[in-house]
Amino acid sequence: MEWPRSKRYRTLNDISETEYNSLLERVNHCPYRETYHIQPKTGLLNDPNGFSFFQGEYHLFYQWFPLGPVHGLKHWYHVSSKDLVHWKDCGIGLSPEKYYESHGVFSGTGFVKGDQLYLFYTGNTRDKDWIRTPYQCLAVMDSKGNIVKHEEPLICDSPKEYTDNFRDPKVFQQDDTYYCLIGAETKENKGVVAYYSSADLIHWEYEGALDIPSVNGFMLECPDYFELNDQGILIFCAQGQKPDGDHFRNIFPAGYVIGDKIDFKHPEITGNEYQELDRGFDFYAPQTTLDEKGRRILVGWFGLPGVDCITDENGWAHCLTLPRELQVIDGRLYQKPAAELENIRKNQRSAASEISGEKTFDGFCGKIYNLECTFTDLKCKKAGVKLRAGENEETLFYLDKTTNKLVLNREKSGRLYAEEYGQIRQCDFDEDHLKLQIFVDTSSIEIFVNDGLEVFTTRIYTQEESQGITFFAEGNAKLQASIWDLKL
Ligand code: FRU
Repeated sequence: MEWPRSKRYRTLNDISETEYNSLLERVNHCPYRETYHIQPKTGLLNDPNGFSFFQGEYHLFYQWFPLGPVHGLKHWYHVSSKDLVHWKDCGIGLSPEKYYESHGVFSGTGFVKGDQLYLFYTGNTRDKDWIRTPYQCLAVMDSKGNIVKHEEPLICDSPKEYTDNFRDPKVFQQDDTYYCLIGAETKENKGVVAYYSSADLIHWEYEGALDIPSVNGFMLECPDYFELNDQGILIFCAQGQKPDGDHFRNIFPAGYVIGDKIDFKHPEITGNEYQELDRGFDFYAPQTTLDEKGRRILVGWFGLPGVDCITDENGWAHCLTLPRELQVIDGRLYQKPAAELENIRKNQRSAASEISGEKTFDGFCGKIYNLECTFTDLKCKKAGVKLRAGENEETLFYLDKTTNKLVLNREKSGRLYAEEYGQIRQCDFDEDHLKLQIFVDTSSIEIFVNDGLEVFTTRIYTQEESQGITFFAEGNAKLQASIWDLKL
């Protein structure tokens, strides 16, 4: 289907109920619909937005174009949850209706102040010559869920040194000052994080830009900053970051730098190189929030910009990743699936065995499940697992002891996409055991390795019948495994 601008910049009000219902029907018949992931009821989902813990509940919004699987006129769609697993549909949160968001309510964050949730976002506008002007805007949600937009944008004129790529405000507090980070491209086409300060969340003063030495991209999207275990962690997506060995193989990366806490009165970036948060294929624009238990939780877009999705043919595209709890251990960032996911496990099966060659176990198969397996005594060249295996299909994940790398291979995962970026992802791994916590949904796999030290995320479009699970070791290893069905 062709998607000219005239079709992309329409809202739900511009199409008939019959037209929308036929789109809904196509989506509902799609064989790749997820079961426990947040996905759009129609159209395209991208970045998570406004992720917050507010009045006893998690609130999460996402970028949404309702009318088809393309980037068009963006809304914020709103869901809420008490447990990060069961999500309530709250309908559209923000629709593009004001002059300062005529071409989309773009990404942004939530900030709780008293009994209100402040939602900061970028209003995207285009003039008749398609020249873009971004505005940084505010809407406020009360405890009943009513959202009211501020009459005027908070930041209208971006500083002169930036192009029109100036968006995705992230607001947080440090001492008695509020700060707002904004993803930006300089006129020299360098990606930086611009930042503002404010005493009242309404009036913002431009302070400067964070220049991150290990970044060579042209635009940094979706910045986030938080502190954890005495470290400062700055997250952003570096568009144009050059591939480097195993790294940055996707069209654009989502990554972070970790170092000393950043004092935004005199910011200085110390510490590590820019590194990817997720080693897999489909992960972008993550956002974090702090909950009442003091946990730092991250949710990402289970997709990428500029890459088609197999489900486009059925009128929808993409979903969000499972929520991950972040921790810093020995200076490294760990990401674990939210513990609450254990509450939807049903019907446990377990097995323990020596393996040498390939091995399957009764009851270890399926399309929607949580698999935990640990390989020890690794006297082998390779050890790992084949998921969604069937005739000519399998998704392979293993530790290659000859190279000390973890490898995810989706060459035989079924219908392929984004082929120009390759179908193998790998990263260094130097541990004496391999512990996998794997979540499989109808068309996705998330693999958490050694309690969250590495994560590999990928969508897969495998035949319904390919439901096998095969463990393997080239050489000898010991294996312990459990599997659960997952049901909301
Ligand atoms: C990232 C992004 C953001 C922007 C939004 C628009 O995927 O490009 O920078 O605000 O998506 O949907």
